[in-house]
Amino acid sequence: MTDAAQPTTPDAAELMRTAEQVAREAGELVRTAVAGSVAVASTKSSGVDLVTEVDQAAEALIRRRLAELRPQDGVLGEEEGWQAGSSGLVWVVDPIDGTTNFVYGLPNYSVSVAVARAEGEDPYGWELLAGAVHAPATGQTWTAGRGLGAYAESERLTVGGPDSLATALVGTGFAYTADRRAGQARVLTEVLPRVRDIRRLGSAAMDLCLVAQGQLDVFYEQHLNPWDMAAGVLAVTEAGGVVERVGEGEEAVTVAGPPALVAELLTVLRPLLEGPAGGV
Ligand code: IPD
Ligand code: CA
Ligand code: CA
Repeated sequence: MTDAAQPTTPDAAELMRTAEQVAREAGELVRTAVAGSVAVASTKSSGVDLVTEVDQAAEALIRRRLAELRPQDGVLGEEEGWQAGSSGLVWVVDPIDGTTNFVYGLPNYSVSVAVARAEGEDPYGWELLAGAVHAPATGQTWTAGRGLGAYAESERLTVGGPDSLATALVGTGFAYTADRRAGQARVLTEVLPRVRDIRRLGSAAMDLCLVAQGQLDVFYEQHLNPWDMAAGVLAVTEAGGVVERVGEGEEAVTVAGPPALVAELLTVLRPLLEGPAGGV
């Protein structure tokens, strides 16, 4: 093989800059759309799973920019699905994470853009290289690069939190279908009495970044999609936290935070997952 044919090692810093750039550009599109008068274009997994024309336009913008900046990479996006590339890298995109908040004019929604080395067919197993989460309503931006750390703007992040779950502020979220929500409600009745309090803020990508920043102590959610979590997961691990998954694919529960709190929360969640009801 000649040098020219050698695969080049992707530069995580460069990928991190690209993720931030496209997340901010899509965020500008989202920000200038008039929240509150945004038309709901359709629903997805259930009647409460909203998608607006702004979700679709933001993903189209991200795909167009990535095609210019990284033409050989693939894209896996929530609205348009899978587009193959030739480089082995895939961008994992949620154009608006927290669409319900966006539709209601609540500020907790974000653009999430990550890039992974896509080895194998399981996106949850891909090696994350860089990511950015940008919240257009508040202007907050989090970035992470493999081996480079996690950042809120230029501030380097480290997970924090108390020693014990009993005084931990726990983020979580819920799926859109009634049967999944019923299982999640059963789990919540076990978790809530054991923690300081629960927050359901409405954007899993932001929840994970808030864990990286120490503004939530730990996070768990079942049924996350790859695009909900890719950038945020890298932020948590680059901030010194761990991310554990119990179960397979979309059925899995994702638990993220400082190692001791994740371990303690798993002791609560595992028996529920393995219980006679066959999962949560
Ligand atoms: C949702 C948000 C929410 C989480 C849901 C996700 P969407 O993403 O991340 O916080 O609880 O599981 O589906 O639908 O707004 O992109
Ligand atoms: Ca999402
Ligand atoms: Ca979304």
